[in-house]
Amino acid sequence: MKVLIIGSGGREHAIAWKVAQNPQVEKIYCAPGNGGIGQVAECVPIGAMEFDKLAAFAKEREIDLTIVGMDDPLVGGVVDVFEKEGLRVFGPRKNAAILEGSKAFSKDLMKKYNIPTAAYENFDNPEEAIAYLKEKAEFPIVLKADGLALGKGVLICNTLEEAEEGVKTIMLDKKFGSAGNTLVIEEFMTGREVSVLSFVDGKTIKTMTSAQDHKRAKDGDQGLNTGGMGTFSPSPFYTKEIDEFCQKNIYQPTVDAMAAEGREFKGIIFFGLMLTEKGPKVLEYNARFGDPEAQVVIPRMKNDMVEVCQACIDGTLDQINLEFEDNAAVCVVLASDGYPVSYEKGFPIEGLESFEGKEGYYVFHAGTALKDGKIVTNGGRVLGVTAKGATLKEARKNAYAATEWIRFENKYMRHDIGKAIDEA
Ligand code: AMP
Ligand code: GLY
Repeated sequence: MKVLIIGSGGREHAIAWKVAQNPQVEKIYCAPGNGGIGQVAECVPIGAMEFDKLAAFAKEREIDLTIVGMDDPLVGGVVDVFEKEGLRVFGPRKNAAILEGSKAFSKDLMKKYNIPTAAYENFDNPEEAIAYLKEKAEFPIVLKADGLALGKGVLICNTLEEAEEGVKTIMLDKKFGSAGNTLVIEEFMTGREVSVLSFVDGKTIKTMTSAQDHKRAKDGDQGLNTGGMGTFSPSPFYTKEIDEFCQKNIYQPTVDAMAAEGREFKGIIFFGLMLTEKGPKVLEYNARFGDPEAQVVIPRMKNDMVEVCQACIDGTLDQINLEFEDNAAVCVVLASDGYPVSYEKGFPIEGLESFEGKEGYYVFHAGTALKDGKIVTNGGRVLGVTAKGATLKEARKNAYAATEWIRFENKYMRHDIGKAIDEA
């Protein structure tokens, strides 16, 4: 079998590493990939948004299965382009990826199908948004750009002034581009956040083990929002009771709602949940694996990735018994100092070989490149260092020990990934 993976981050490296374990897989390509993914896959210099080139490549190389890791190509319709060419591809079509691509759509869907989420209103017009804020809003309040904004299109505003400024930033200054044509104004919720990822075949949904991300750049959840500075899995706050509630009231209802709307969803649904005093509520949906959630969830997955993806495409997920190891994993992101604002790159990375042959320790590449035969830093989030352990505490200890094996100039990380588990 030949497999193509679309994307270039730590998530795609984790997917490629897992796919490589299938004995039938003889060749993996990754477009565009990165320096480290080159260890398990052949990187192909085609951008993730170059759909026609990607499809032509898949045809020419007789790719048996394409797995789309990233949100932009999914929302842009790469799956439709591949299907039209008769290619097998794992991921939602454009009309289903809208679950992530439009927050206004997802909020309306949840309202229509009684799926628990924060109260909200959608606005196409900035004056109306401001009038609503003046007359009806309670603070803090949350403003969300409707479209994809690299995880940065959410503003939490404590005062009317801040919120008015926020409307201007999103809708008039267009800081997030056309993603801000529509604005969602949403009730502020408090509670623990949990990420639950799932495989979906259009009808059946099978959830994976839970995880939690740390989105802020600095220790103690301070600093700017990032793509994610580290994760742990499972979340000790995600109890059996909460899972039962979500299976019944959130997960299956979402899949059924999409089917009822004529938007059959096949692929990954990532449920961003807030565990509020009034029960679990949906913060957001994503239509793909999380990054760096994938880096803790995939190493704990017992099933074969290719088999599960095929079952989603074929609509036979009900026949799969999805299983995860009864242990824990922690991923600490090694970033370039200055991320997410500005940072230098091109520094050689030392110590990667320390991971070779060490079971339960992984280094997933995100922002790396191969230069003169050496791996160098090439982005804000450089590497994800994952370690497993019997317990979360042990996994955290192992992961932080492994971060010491890696050296590069301007290496930066948070020191409190998974610290919340002490409170559990
Ligand atoms: P999202 O992209 O919708 O997940 O939002 C990014 C982050 O903003 C979430 O992970 C939360 O930390 C925060 N957030 C989003 N919506 C709300 C809300 N309604 N109440 C409180 N925090 C929120
Ligand atoms: N880690 C959050 C995301 O992938 O959206």
